Amino acid sequence: MTNRYPPISAKCPHILHGGDYNPEQWQNTSEIWDEDIRLMKEAGVNTATVGVFSWVSLEPEEGKFTFGWLDTIMDKFAENGIYAVMATPSGARPAWLTRKYPEVSRVRGDRIRNHHGVRENHCFTSPVYREKTRIINTKLAQRYKDHPALILWHISNEYCGECHCDMCQDAFRAFLRRKYNDDLDALNQAWWTAFWSHTYTDWSQLESPSSIGETSIHGLTLDWRRFVTHQTIDFMRSEIDAVRKVTPDIPVTTNMHGSGFHLDYHRFVPCMDVIAWDAYPRWHSPCGDAEIAAEAAMIYDMCRAMKGGRPFMLMESVPSLTNWQHVNKLKRPGMHRLSSLQAVAHGSDTVQYFQWRMGRGSCEKFHGAVLDHSGRSDTRVFKDVAALGNELATLDAVIGTTSKAQTALIVDIENSWAIDAMAALGRENRKYRETVISHYRAFWKMGVPVDVIDQTYDISSYKLVVAPMLYMLRPGFSEKVDRFVAAGGTFITTYWSGLVDENDLTFVGGFPGGRLRKVLGIWNEETDAIHPGESNSVTISASMPGMKGSYKAAELFALIHTETAKVRATLASDFYAGRPALTSNTYGKGTAWYIASRNEQAFQDDFYANLITTLELDRALDADLPAGVSANLRTDGKRDFLFVMNFGNAPASVNLGDNSYTDLLTGTSAMAVLSLAPYAVHILTRVRK
Ligand code: GLA
Repeated sequence: MTNRYPPISAKCPHILHGGDYNPEQWQNTSEIWDEDIRLMKEAGVNTATVGVFSWVSLEPEEGKFTFGWLDTIMDKFAENGIYAVMATPSGARPAWLTRKYPEVSRVRGDRIRNHHGVRENHCFTSPVYREKTRIINTKLAQRYKDHPALILWHISNEYCGECHCDMCQDAFRAFLRRKYNDDLDALNQAWWTAFWSHTYTDWSQLESPSSIGETSIHGLTLDWRRFVTHQTIDFMRSEIDAVRKVTPDIPVTTNMHGSGFHLDYHRFVPCMDVIAWDAYPRWHSPCGDAEIAAEAAMIYDMCRAMKGGRPFMLMESVPSLTNWQHVNKLKRPGMHRLSSLQAVAHGSDTVQYFQWRMGRGSCEKFHGAVLDHSGRSDTRVFKDVAALGNELATLDAVIGTTSKAQTALIVDIENSWAIDAMAALGRENRKYRETVISHYRAFWKMGVPVDVIDQTYDISSYKLVVAPMLYMLRPGFSEKVDRFVAAGGTFITTYWSGLVDENDLTFVGGFPGGRLRKVLGIWNEETDAIHPGESNSVTISASMPGMKGSYKAAELFALIHTETAKVRATLASDFYAGRPALTSNTYGKGTAWYIASRNEQAFQDDFYANLITTLELDRALDADLPAGVSANLRTDGKRDFLFVMNFGNAPASVNLGDNSYTDLLTGTSAMAVLSLAPYAVHILTRVRK
């Protein structure tokens, strides 16, 4: 079986290496542009992202366009073998636009309209803003449609935020009328509005949630967040339409980002030809790089899974340090190479940065870049980037390969919104993101590929589906789980799962709701939250090979009764001592597990290690991976590329089992035991047997 995706652009069938380039900031000293090009070539840069925030430099007055500087840059690119990822500039707008059309500025939740300034400060509904972006996007597309340097559209920049203006309120009401088929009773029922006398008696009464108004109707909060995603996509589509009309063959993407899951990015996927992510992991945090690496890996596995395995783009990363983290620590020697190749290991066909050259002023002047204020190429950072650029140039064979996962981890953004909105458990102990990462980490440690998906994806081809804290069941998901397990799949969920439906209405008749209760064979009667510092423990029964006698548990406990499930571990103390902590239920040809308490990482590690063995899940490498070492496999079905990476700060070694691998970078045969210096990456290749 060969499974190789085409390169992102046939014009540049190499790993794309480059980043955001803002030459318009240097127009007064434009001799620097030639120096930029010279140094880009020295750094092995084959792509630059232009135009992200260039609107005012492209249209300084309404209807007056100044493309000259960009023409020069694009031509310089073409003459020097550099390709352009061209952004549409909607992320920040010229002041003239706000002055003339004040309605384009966002209105906040407290109903105050923002002044002009910063960026991502525009209304997604405003017809004027849509028209102005349509015009500039069309002009850009017309101008560069035949330019040899153009390879990709970068639509806007990190779409985010929301607007509560009157136009958005109208659009929200229209969205709701469509969603509830013009049936206000259906909306009232879905939102449980008889509570506190909140029943709506006319559509005109509906308004977005507000810090000075409605925050108590969780169905409203959820539908508002859905609307914000919907409206952002609608705006993005209008941007894409403008460039597609002129350049139907140039692929489009938008750079997704962040840790808060503010938009439901899965819904963006159909509009994008390639997924792009901006990654800023907090390397060298006190928790250690291995912890951070697993978090980054989980996001990359989401990006790869979004298009069924198609390689994605690491659109932004920093070659040195950010300027906005709590503590902006320099990347230690070796980390730049390691963190960049980590993205490639998980399926990125690019390594791109924010940004090429540090600006001299404004709020990002101290944000890391390939070139710092010295402008020199003999800096540590530049040399790291150039060395990596040279290596990436030798990785053409990796392009288009992918990782095939037999495990899916459900990380559901709507579910995370519902968990954020609810009033239950405790303020500090919800930790949906931390929980899914903790489950993911167990697979990462074992080098088991995982697809990170949400409830709307097809799960039928996986062997194992893990869905921690699945508080909200989206329509049809529990039925999918039922079919999946009945057909032989293994499903795992935890405490605080199956409590509410897609409207945040609780299930009645006993948790977990939908088909989950039957599939899991348990009833979750109550859930306890305990204070920080308090703990319990889980006592493992003899029938769980590979698990030790007991594990620490804290924070959240589902008090459950088995119905058809078998108890595999029990809680050790408190008034619920002896109650099930872990159950398994044979259902059809498969098994469904329920983890009733929030357990220390070692529980996840041992429990999943056990399952990985029992289910014979494919691993990137069948070897013990020392702490901090991760292994990832990309393949086209015929040739494997094994990335072995040491995120630990001590040397490590990995027994490859045989010596059939060749080191892709050196071309030498790999030893049967691979020695990994701290932050080392080895890319090994072999033909599949
Ligand atoms: C984001 C933006 C960039 C830049 C970087 C700084 O990712 O897209 O324009 O501001 O952050 O880290």
